[in-house]
Amino acid sequence: METYIYSSHDESQTQSLGSKLGELLAAGFTIGLNGTLGSGKTRLVKAIAAGLKIDPETVVSPTFTICVPYQGRLKVLHLDAYRIKQQEEVDELGLDEEIEDGAVLLVEWANKIKQTLPLLELEIEALPAGETTRRYSFFAHSDRARTLIQSLHDWSISKS
Ligand SMILES: Nc1ncnc2c1ncn2[C@@H]1O[C@H](COP(=O)(O)OP(=O)(O)OP(=O)(O)O)[C@@H](O)[C@H]1O
Ligand SMILES: [Mg+2]
Repeated sequence: METYIYSSHDESQTQSLGSKLGELLAAGFTIGLNGTLGSGKTRLVKAIAAGLKIDPETVVSPTFTICVPYQGRLKVLHLDAYRIKQQEEVDELGLDEEIEDGAVLLVEWANKIKQTLPLLELEIEALPAGETTRRYSFFAHSDRARTLIQSLHDWSISKS
């Protein structure tokens, strides 16, 4: 499956979606999240973190530092590119090596720094479609990402 769209009607559905995604993640997965302010990127990251056994309370928008690490079932690096001024800020993080060591990359506003990021296997576009409705579109760019979004699709069918 190349693309998959999930319409979340409230935060509890986003929570279920994200934690399922977190359970499915493997070492070194690279994920970019795009979408306007308040579209639900950080909310989804919190849910993904929960699925990786990271305390979601510790997950906040990395506003002042561009990268925050968390440790759960896997190490996670949470980036927010919204305020990044210089590409060197990203280069200094040594992301390629982190990924090779097994860290999962979750990058908000990934499109802003796409040139300096490692190849993203999964892109997620968040779109507000109502007060509590958020449409999450998933675009897979690797075999395991295609398998992952197929699993998400199967999961959403099985619980409906
Ligand atoms: N179904 C839903 N899924 C996710 N978030 C929802 C949903 N319904 C309402 N919300 C609200 O939408 C907001 C999403 O904010 P969030 O911080 O995740 O956005 P963001 O895309 O990370 O924005 P920014 O670009 O500023 O970082 C939260 O206030 C959340 O409570
Ligand atoms: Mg955010």
